[in-house]
Amino acid sequence: MKSLAAILLFGLYAATTFSQSNAQAKCMINVKVDKPVATVQPTMWGIFFEDINMGADGGIYAELVKNRSFEFYKPLAGWTVQPADISYVPFQKQFGEGTVMIVNRQEKNTANPRFIRITANNVSKGSLGLSNEGFDGMGIRKNVQYNFSMMYHQQAAGFKLYIELVDSTGKNLGSTSVTPSESGNEWHKVSASFVATSTESKGRMNIWFEGNGVIDLDMISIFPGDTWKNRSGGMRSDLVQLLADLKPGFIRFPGGCIVEGRELSTRYQWKKTIGPVEERQLIVNRWNTEIVNRPAPDYFQTFGLGFFEYFQLAEDIGAEPLPILNCGMACQFNTAEVAPIEQLDPYVQDALDLIEFANGNVNTKWGAVRAQLGHPAPFNLKMIGVGNENWGPQYVERLKIFQKAIKEKYPAIKIIASTGAMYEGNMFDYLTAELKKIKPEFIDEHYYNRPEWFLKNATRYDNYDRGGSKIFAGEYAAQSDRVVSTENKNNLCTAIAEAAFLTGLERNADVVNMASYAPLFARVDGWQWKPDLIWFDNLHAYGTPNYYVQKLFSNNKGTDVIPALMNDKPLTGQDSLYASAVIDKNTKEVIIKIVNSSSNERSASLMIEGVKTLRSPASVTVLTGTSLEEENSIDSPEAIKPVVQSTNVKGSEINITVKPNSVTVIRIGMNSSK
Ligand code: AHR
Repeated sequence: MKSLAAILLFGLYAATTFSQSNAQAKCMINVKVDKPVATVQPTMWGIFFEDINMGADGGIYAELVKNRSFEFYKPLAGWTVQPADISYVPFQKQFGEGTVMIVNRQEKNTANPRFIRITANNVSKGSLGLSNEGFDGMGIRKNVQYNFSMMYHQQAAGFKLYIELVDSTGKNLGSTSVTPSESGNEWHKVSASFVATSTESKGRMNIWFEGNGVIDLDMISIFPGDTWKNRSGGMRSDLVQLLADLKPGFIRFPGGCIVEGRELSTRYQWKKTIGPVEERQLIVNRWNTEIVNRPAPDYFQTFGLGFFEYFQLAEDIGAEPLPILNCGMACQFNTAEVAPIEQLDPYVQDALDLIEFANGNVNTKWGAVRAQLGHPAPFNLKMIGVGNENWGPQYVERLKIFQKAIKEKYPAIKIIASTGAMYEGNMFDYLTAELKKIKPEFIDEHYYNRPEWFLKNATRYDNYDRGGSKIFAGEYAAQSDRVVSTENKNNLCTAIAEAAFLTGLERNADVVNMASYAPLFARVDGWQWKPDLIWFDNLHAYGTPNYYVQKLFSNNKGTDVIPALMNDKPLTGQDSLYASAVIDKNTKEVIIKIVNSSSNERSASLMIEGVKTLRSPASVTVLTGTSLEEENSIDSPEAIKPVVQSTNVKGSEINITVKPNSVTVIRIGMNSSK
């Protein structure tokens, strides 16, 4: 097994450190239970959610139909007309016994202007149809109920529609039918359900028409019935479960760069993402073209997963909601447009209204909207982010306006400010100096760098100013190659480097109050950005080694940081070892995390001081692998995962062997402190 140091670009640092070590010596770690140095905030380890890599549409949002409302640039993207195999119908296509036409009612309906019109003359089943390909196929599971729905409009009833799910060879996996019976000028909804007979990862949905006349269709949808909490139009339960298992302290949404938009017109606007899905105005996803990796020309944000659902998700998984809003600035890597200061009001108002939407009582305008959506109780929002990766004087100027308006109306709401896209350099220094003057409660730092940076920066906050804003480590991920490289891997090497860094965050929990890995999700066949915490396809999902690192820290969060010292010093890379420790006052346990970034096994003796007696055995959870390059995958989802063992405790001493290239979490029950 290669050592982590050996594969690092700047191997000198680690090699030097390693050369000073004596691989045979037992290391003594003194853990001082009765000397707590900081409180661990309940928010400490959380989730960063962004619709990148098909994380929402085609991902956690369980809709199986791609382009259900015909609003993609190509109105028939995702659809084919059956039996003719055509992908785009500019205005009208004559085929067999009917025609299809895309109609745009944009003067009357700006949010959802297009629909499809079917005209047919006595068609029989099988001779005229529409087929949807899903997101690189549809994942269909045996014995699961599938709920079809569509909106329709017709002057006279004349059709029966047969809906079927089929496998990649066209074999039927279940079907139903609907007879749209309402007529007139209004739109109506019709639904039907059936149970799938087989499992298939690359299925499709066909709709066959039978009958006569003209019918307009929109919002053609099919959802599995086994969504998270069985909510209709809900989320994939396997993916939400992976989030819930993290026991996250917060969930940040909806990004990321999509908050900013490439231009202001495509910024994220939360008010357009709530209410009936047919009224949520779809926009192109900025990751559609942002990065050359695997361009996804049909990647749109339907906002089926919108702000109400984000708040609901936060509540479901016990995480504090943490919305980030546009601050009147488009992405500075793209157009860098800004809204003029005198036209900033609508942006600020969006923030104030969001707080009312989340927390206002049902007699307020936006509290009433929340209640109408099915949640009269407040969501108890405590913090809000102003801007994502924004920087420069133009950001400071706008942030101050937001801060004043929010604090005047909602003094208890904590504000999270951006520190730009970098964690160092001129722009960062300028911004952090300015932020010191206006003191937002949190500043959001993002770190994407090579593993050695993470090892080296385990001490980043050891001497940090304790008098200013708290740190939100809002986006971190070790890059095995370089930022935005397609070669980046979610391997053991990056996971161990991140774990070393996280010991530093934990040790400094008085100043670092929140941390999240980014990005969160990626489709194996539709990603733009690597690495990512959780990968999935149509039927499967797995956590990366990086996921398990975040989970180990989050599930072993504790309540108070205590010193874990070797020779009276914190372990920040001596002999390639990193450590942090907490106690959990609720469960009366001491929890020690040790990261070994070398290829040497180490014997460690943990001396637990300041406690009367310890309970034996201690649990010892180890995350390691067969090589630093090892990764999890759809085929081997748990090649690397934490393994739990136990070890006997002798008095106040615990002897363990720290495996090479590993993360170890030791949990010991305490009887009472001295
Ligand atoms: O996590 C991917 C992107 O990285 C985020 O959208 C952005 O905030 C950062 O630059």
